[in-house]
Amino acid sequence: MKDNELILILDFYGQYNQLIARRVRECNVYSEIVPYDISIEKIKEKNPKGIIFTGGPASVYAEDAPKCNPKVFELGIPILGICYGMQLMTHTLGGTVSRADKREYGATKVNIADSPIFDGFKDYNTCLMSHTDFVSKVPDGFDIIGFTDSCPVAAMQNKEKKLYGIQFHPEVNHTVNGTEIIKNFLFNVCECSGTWKMSSFVEESIKSLKERIGDRKALCALSGGVDSSVAAVLLHKAIGKNLTCIFVDHGLLRKNEGDEVENIFKNQFDINLIRVNAKDRFLSKLAGVTEPEKKRKIIGEEFIRVFEEEAKKIGTVDFLVQGTIYPDVIESGLGKGATIKSHHNVGGLPDYVDFKEIVEPLRDLFKDEVRKTGLELGIPENLVFRQPFPGPGLAIRIIGDITDDKLDILKDADAIFREEIKLAGLDKDINQYFAVLTNLKSVGVMGDERTYDYTIALRAVTTSDFMTATWSKIPYDILEKVSSRIVNEIKHVNRVVYDITSKPPATIEWE
Ligand code: XMP
Repeated sequence: MKDNELILILDFYGQYNQLIARRVRECNVYSEIVPYDISIEKIKEKNPKGIIFTGGPASVYAEDAPKCNPKVFELGIPILGICYGMQLMTHTLGGTVSRADKREYGATKVNIADSPIFDGFKDYNTCLMSHTDFVSKVPDGFDIIGFTDSCPVAAMQNKEKKLYGIQFHPEVNHTVNGTEIIKNFLFNVCECSGTWKMSSFVEESIKSLKERIGDRKALCALSGGVDSSVAAVLLHKAIGKNLTCIFVDHGLLRKNEGDEVENIFKNQFDINLIRVNAKDRFLSKLAGVTEPEKKRKIIGEEFIRVFEEEAKKIGTVDFLVQGTIYPDVIESGLGKGATIKSHHNVGGLPDYVDFKEIVEPLRDLFKDEVRKTGLELGIPENLVFRQPFPGPGLAIRIIGDITDDKLDILKDADAIFREEIKLAGLDKDINQYFAVLTNLKSVGVMGDERTYDYTIALRAVTTSDFMTATWSKIPYDILEKVSSRIVNEIKHVNRVVYDITSKPPATIEWE
């Protein structure tokens, strides 16, 4: 990863920072987000091909406005300032930033001039504007290369010094040709070659993990989720049998899932895997417990206990592997040192395991890049594109107390629902879908007999961030098929309902 094709993104607290990093990586150039006050020495050390200043909510005149070291403009490294980034460039280099009476917001037609960053476009481009302050006078040596009806400087350049500023946001979809503008900056101005790919990430990671770990030992908690699976396989490729994975099977996984995880990692990859079948332990701790948060707490604590016991058998290890990914790193505060992901399954693990260092092989990757890495490593698609599954598993999809019988009913119903959604080709459009065993029994009729059995609820949502979600409009004929299969194939279920509530007000899970 540490090749010289790096674009540094200076973070001025803009809301689209991650998007900028992704757009750059989509152009096959590696990018890293760093705090706006990164030192000049550090920048030199990182030796980037170019620098992008993000937008940000501040005004350059605010007392606590984030400001980078002005020497950054003297390094000879090309810079693209976006929104606040352009205003800061202007303010620092002697131009004027003014305040408009009202905020300009929305898709706006920008008149554009000839420029290396607008290569391939003519006259106008529709761009997302979102600002109150604006540049009213460009610094010496700069030309205006874009304006709108209300913004005299929508884009500017100092071609000789390779300094560029744009008032609008190229990273968002509302800006037509936005990626082209970024591409132009990367290739026409920074002269990047665009050779960064996931396969090079995989190769380089394996190489550097090998160098770092050598013949020492590492331990990984494998949940069967995407992040821990990809981290485990990557480590395995680097250090082979010196990696031990512990897979705590709490018995609350979906139908056959425990066996599938074991099969993939033990048989397909030949990973040193310890599967702990702890279902009885978990179920006995959960017996009679109905309160959702209590279930979560019991499962979390028991998970740690089981893991700890297994880890003790192994003794001291040199490294503990964590599946931290880039959004976790960014969300927990840039530049504030290493953060350890408090994973739902392995929360607090570092406190319980005897290890010397943490290794986080995915901490530079976005989720979709983790998936690509997984595919590169040969992890099966159904695991790589697995829908999110809560750490406490089916325990929070059985309303009320949990028993072995209820678990079996839910596993079967859930498997039918997932199978039919997949068969209908809806699995790519629906982001999460599962069955819930409600605690409700109702009267039904089967043949000539009265029944008094469980109600299964089906839940399916589309969402991009899982913070809000819309219930999926699954075609009636598919719902009909799922319902009739569930009541016919599974004993003790005589009713199926479909959850038509979005989030908010409901949550995705029922508990
Ligand atoms: P809710 O139900 O809060 O779920 O709308 C949002 C997303 O989080 C998942 N979820 C969990 N994941 N441990 C987890 O690891 C949990 O305790 C937990 N509860 C909810 C849920 O599946 C959805 O994707």
